[in-house]
Amino acid sequence: MSEQEIKIDIDGKAILITGGTGSFGKRFVETVLKNHKPKRLVIYSRDEFKQYEMQQTFDTKTYPCIRYFIGDVRDVERLKMAMNGIDIVIHAAALKHVPAAEYNPFECIQTNVHGAQNVVMASLANNVEKVIALSTDKAASPINLYGASKLASDKIFVAANHFSGEKGTKFGVVRYGNVLGSRGSVLPFFRKLAAEKAKQIPITDPRMTRFFITLQDGVDFVLENLTRMQGGEIFVPKIPSMKITDIASAIAPNIEQKTVGIRVGEKLHELMIGCDDARVTLEMNDYYVIQPPVMHWKNDYYMKHGAKSCVEGFEYSSDTNNHWLDSSDIKEWLKQFDEKELERNA
Ligand SMILES: NC(=O)c1ccc[n+]([C@@H]2O[C@H](COP(=O)([O-])OP(=O)(O)OC[C@H]3O[C@@H](n4cnc5c(N)ncnc54)[C@H](OP(=O)(O)O)[C@@H]3O)[C@@H](O)[C@H]2O)c1
Repeated sequence: MSEQEIKIDIDGKAILITGGTGSFGKRFVETVLKNHKPKRLVIYSRDEFKQYEMQQTFDTKTYPCIRYFIGDVRDVERLKMAMNGIDIVIHAAALKHVPAAEYNPFECIQTNVHGAQNVVMASLANNVEKVIALSTDKAASPINLYGASKLASDKIFVAANHFSGEKGTKFGVVRYGNVLGSRGSVLPFFRKLAAEKAKQIPITDPRMTRFFITLQDGVDFVLENLTRMQGGEIFVPKIPSMKITDIASAIAPNIEQKTVGIRVGEKLHELMIGCDDARVTLEMNDYYVIQPPVMHWKNDYYMKHGAKSCVEGFEYSSDTNNHWLDSSDIKEWLKQFDEKELERNA
């Protein structure tokens, strides 16, 4: 049976999103308000100014289901209070800047690891139905603290299913690569240099490759997985790879590319599924599922929907991906990804 007709069933549900004022959070809120009818949509984050700004677009008069909740994921009691009556939790709050995490390890661990634990505890305390936490390709065989902290977070969410048991809260993880155009990413940076008519465009390493996903595809993938999740899965979408040099050529074809060297904590290629995880990974039509070590599922949803095991030695890596966008594909794609879209991603 194909999964084509997967129906996202969140109407009438009370949803809370941690990090609701971030790039992902704003697009998630926009999408849910446009296409669904949630009972409540709670935005949970720390900075009142970001919430104030978001209220200029998503005000509580026009959207009476919205609640703006100031809170820190480090504060379990506040999370428990915010999750009162909540059915679905999306955990997007994180510290995600690689060098900042290296320099401030205690802060990174408190938000990304203790925060994950707190989200699990508060979800269990409130008998939340489903929880999806966002992860990153940097969590697969991590070489920096950001990736390592997200790997620890992934482990916490996968293991949380043991505490809730068969009928309790289901916890799952969505892992994907760089969000094209997100704040601080290479696309707005290259565009700025092109607009300034810079003499050179810095390339860390001409061999470098990355996975890319659009913000909207990331949001849609999370929503789909809310429907199919059984508990304990790490969902990985099949997404294209790009060479950094092709992105630069697409944006600034006339600017010389200068190799500046790979930075500390950066990989040449990103990995989404390592070969050891691949042994327990199922391949679906347009995504992979890394299965948990202990499954509490009776209903084997994935087998019923055409799952295949990955071949021995398989790795899902940005350099060996079979789906690529070259410079002209990126140019085509950028035509749709105009300034307005970039602003919406920021
Ligand atoms: N962007 C990417 O390329 C990418 C790729 C793969 C995975 N991801 C993952 O996707 C998720 C969302 O990323 P994003 O791009 O939306 O990040 P973002 O734009 O930096 O937003 C982060 C959000 O988290 C909130 N936050 C940070 N610390 C918090 C805390 N201690 N307590 C409560 N809220 C906190 C921030 O608001 P306040 O500062 O006001 O609290 C903000 O709303 C993250 O988990 C990230 O690891 C991102």
